Amino acid sequence: MNRVDGKGGATATPRFHGRRHGRKLRPGRIDLLHSLLPRLRLVIDDCSAPIDPRLSFARSVTDVWLEIGFGAGEHLAQRAEENPDVGFIGCEPYVSGVASLLSQLSSGNDTNIRLFDDDSRLLLPRLAEASIGRVFLLFPDPWPKKRHWQRRFLTLTGFDMLARVLADGGDLWFATDHMGYAGWALQHAIRHSAFTWLARRPDDWRRPTDGWIQTRYESKALAKGDHCTYLRFRRRNRQENGS
Ligand SMILES: C[S@@+](CC[C@H](N)C(=O)[O-])C[C@H]1O[C@@H](n2cnc3c(N)ncnc32)[C@H](O)[C@@H]1O
Repeated sequence: MNRVDGKGGATATPRFHGRRHGRKLRPGRIDLLHSLLPRLRLVIDDCSAPIDPRLSFARSVTDVWLEIGFGAGEHLAQRAEENPDVGFIGCEPYVSGVASLLSQLSSGNDTNIRLFDDDSRLLLPRLAEASIGRVFLLFPDPWPKKRHWQRRFLTLTGFDMLARVLADGGDLWFATDHMGYAGWALQHAIRHSAFTWLARRPDDWRRPTDGWIQTRYESKALAKGDHCTYLRFRRRNRQENGS
């Protein structure tokens, strides 16, 4: 498991409130965790040099996209297959989710996916500034109780971390089935000088973009008849707004 001493980070080591382990894994999945994960794992060490994520891939990539909390990994696996020239970093501390993603990778070693099997807030401060072209944060834990709202990923600190790693013009794609979290994310993004909300009309946030890949949580929410919200934010040009 990755650990960092916090030297390169903006804040102290964050506390992860989610689950790391679920039901007992099938033997095939345990094998994948032992054989394939070490080859795809993005390791961060104690040195404070920024990590250029492009260098983690076996072949050259035109851009690097990051998915935070990929769950069972269906979205990540399909996006990576559809965009073979892009390098993908998936962050997920839930071991069963990581094993599920590994089971979907047909190309093994040669894949354009690298994995950080821990809290993304340990990785983000270590990535080089402006090194990521797109971030997916899809159906993150909504923490509905007021006393837990500060556990949400998209606090002002979360936006700060994403603003630093996103390249100028890079996008943050956020989706949720929790109206409270949608409003919260929007309020924080609007207050944050580095981001602009891309919606022009209601369908831009009520419906997913063309080519959208449904996640497991999204399918469950839609099957229950819940509404989902899709927000896309663009990282402003650093020279324009000085952030
Ligand atoms: C509600 S699930 C959604 C999973 C998937 N995105 C989907 O839509 O099906 C949220 C996921 O985010 C992961 N997660 C929570 N906090 C995280 C963090 N700080 N960094 C990376 N992953 C995180 C959890 O382990 C969980 O798998």
